[in-house]
Amino acid sequence: MIVEIAIVGAGRLGTVLAVAFQRAGHRIVSASTRTKESADGLAALLPECVFSTSAAAAAALGEIVFLTVPDDTLKTVDALIDWRPGQMAVHCAGARPAGILIHAMESGSRTAGFHPLQSFADLDAGLLNLPGSSIGIEADDDGWSLLSGLAQVIGATPLRIGPDDRALYHAASALISNGTVGLMAVAAELWSKIGIPRDQAVAALLPLLQGTVRNLDTVGLPDALTGPIVRGDIGTVAGHLAALAALAREQAVYRSISTWLIDLAIERGTITTIQAEALRSILEQPKPGGDPGNL
Ligand SMILES: NC(=O)c1ccc[n+]([C@@H]2O[C@H](COP(=O)([O-])OP(=O)(O)OC[C@H]3O[C@@H](n4cnc5c(N)ncnc54)[C@H](OP(=O)(O)O)[C@@H]3O)[C@@H](O)[C@H]2O)c1
Repeated sequence: MIVEIAIVGAGRLGTVLAVAFQRAGHRIVSASTRTKESADGLAALLPECVFSTSAAAAAALGEIVFLTVPDDTLKTVDALIDWRPGQMAVHCAGARPAGILIHAMESGSRTAGFHPLQSFADLDAGLLNLPGSSIGIEADDDGWSLLSGLAQVIGATPLRIGPDDRALYHAASALISNGTVGLMAVAAELWSKIGIPRDQAVAALLPLLQGTVRNLDTVGLPDALTGPIVRGDIGTVAGHLAALAALAREQAVYRSISTWLIDLAIERGTITTIQAEALRSILEQPKPGGDPGNL
């Protein structure tokens, strides 16, 4: 079945979805951006699509209307559209429930959430990264059947998420994507203390991160864990804490993540209960002045 799709907000994600759906055989009938200039690049790729600077005009033409506008504008944009029964209003904000589209619901349209678990910086990278990504979908049974099919034709894996679970679902995805960037920033900051500039730090640490991601891909959790905690090298962990003693924010990150690593090491069965307790005692109770304690 060919679906007629309108894209309201043809920005980073909207553009990728439009091109991916069209390549999969669906029709992108209309798209909107706030300014005409924003749509120029996409217009060349979608010659049959009607472009508009009006969200309402673009939405009127679609059977399924993707609202790929900033999260905080969803309610305003929803209120601008003359929804009709039979249409489906789909937003892509990970943490917001489909029910945020109140006007669409009250007008008899179906509402849903369709959140690709991927980072879309530009069209080419987005199209490359989309296949194999998961898409968190909130929808009723009919909507799930339609949207999970749309996810699959663009090479993604549909994942059903309930309305009350979206914030937690999105917090986890932000932790993995944004948190990894944050961890790189912490690591680079630590290396700056020993005179290694940030660019050089990122270049040197990136292959380590990539190798770790490959290990997660091949052996998963908990087996991808390497390092002093899974080996039970308590003296090495104490040395890390001592080196971080004067760096309170960085030490807090180290302590917080390391306590999770103890759980993984226990799950793998590589450390004894006594080793786990010793690790917890130095990691969970910061001593005044950052003293890692006697071992
Ligand atoms: N990018 C990602 O990695 C990603 C991943 C998953 C989910 N999402 C979700 O996708 C949605 C869009 O994110 P994005 O990164 O694609 O944003 P974006 O690149 O900033 O694009 C936003 C689009 O909405 C239009 N727009 C902005 N304000 C508007 C308004 N008040 N009324 C009508 N149109 C408006 C913009 O038009 P102009 O270009 O003319 O300003 C642009 O076409 C968000 O809900 C986000 O959470 C994004």
